[in-house]
Amino acid sequence: MTLTIKPILPRFGAEVSGVDISKPLDEATRAAIVAAMDRWGVCVYRNTGLDNDSHVEFSRIFGYLERAPLRPGKAPRHGHRELFDAGNLDPSGAILQDEGMLLHKRGDRLWHTDSSFMELRSSYSLLLAHEVPKEGGETWFADTRSAYEDLPQPMKDRIAGLEVIHSLWWSRKLAGVPLTEEEVDERSSARHPLVLRHIGSGRDALYIAAHARDIVGMDRDEGRALIRELLDWATQPQYIFSVKWQPGDLVIWDNLASMHRGGYFDERNERRYMRRTTVREGVPPEQPDDPFAELLSFPLKATA
Ligand code: OGA
Ligand code: MN
Repeated sequence: MTLTIKPILPRFGAEVSGVDISKPLDEATRAAIVAAMDRWGVCVYRNTGLDNDSHVEFSRIFGYLERAPLRPGKAPRHGHRELFDAGNLDPSGAILQDEGMLLHKRGDRLWHTDSSFMELRSSYSLLLAHEVPKEGGETWFADTRSAYEDLPQPMKDRIAGLEVIHSLWWSRKLAGVPLTEEEVDERSSARHPLVLRHIGSGRDALYIAAHARDIVGMDRDEGRALIRELLDWATQPQYIFSVKWQPGDLVIWDNLASMHRGGYFDERNERRYMRRTTVREGVPPEQPDDPFAELLSFPLKATA
């Protein structure tokens, strides 16, 4: 099977067609799908016909899938611990009204990269649209490899070897969740290099996000100004594009080669419902359980 690949920007993002990803795929097709991700960083598959089972099955091509914690006495939502809800619905399927949860979810409208606040990074995210609003609710993507490559040499020299502290609570504070600086500092965080080598392409990338709180060993204000400057640089028009969703569309992004953010929509009146699987970097596919299962329950504890 030959994939048809239509680039979105010259170096970043592609629409992929010519393959039915809801059916089992042979080795060569799976390799071509992974190679397209290595090259383009974000791949859009339209009208996939994926359901919960085939969404999870297809995602396994990319490696170990993060799992939500087991809830005593309850079956996993949607029959799979690997499926996480995104959008504006509560667990009963009604439009979310809880102000705290809405604020928490608004954090996804800041440029970010998934799970950078965890020690083991997430590599790929695979988001499938189930219900979409009439207007808005698109998702934006930014090319962190080209953004790094295009940096002026003095900036590359300045950031070489730096490390960043990432915290979920920091991005929630930025989104307006009422947390003090002390509360953010007390909660869990993770430390990662600011520049990473993207294994599948051999290119370097910026690893920054709304979760990026401080630069290790740098004065707080100075570090935050540098993070802001790099975020602004990487989200210039030549590095970004948006995807307008229809139900059944799947977008795969490489968190180690991109950032993303949700677009505005009328979240109090319109339904938007997506489900996501997330692949953990460098973890073998078979694991007895998820070492971060507890942390992954964070949406329910956002304002606790
Ligand atoms: C995500 C995310 C944004 C969106 O699922 O990780 O950030 O537009 N989604 O749904
Ligand atoms: Mn995200």
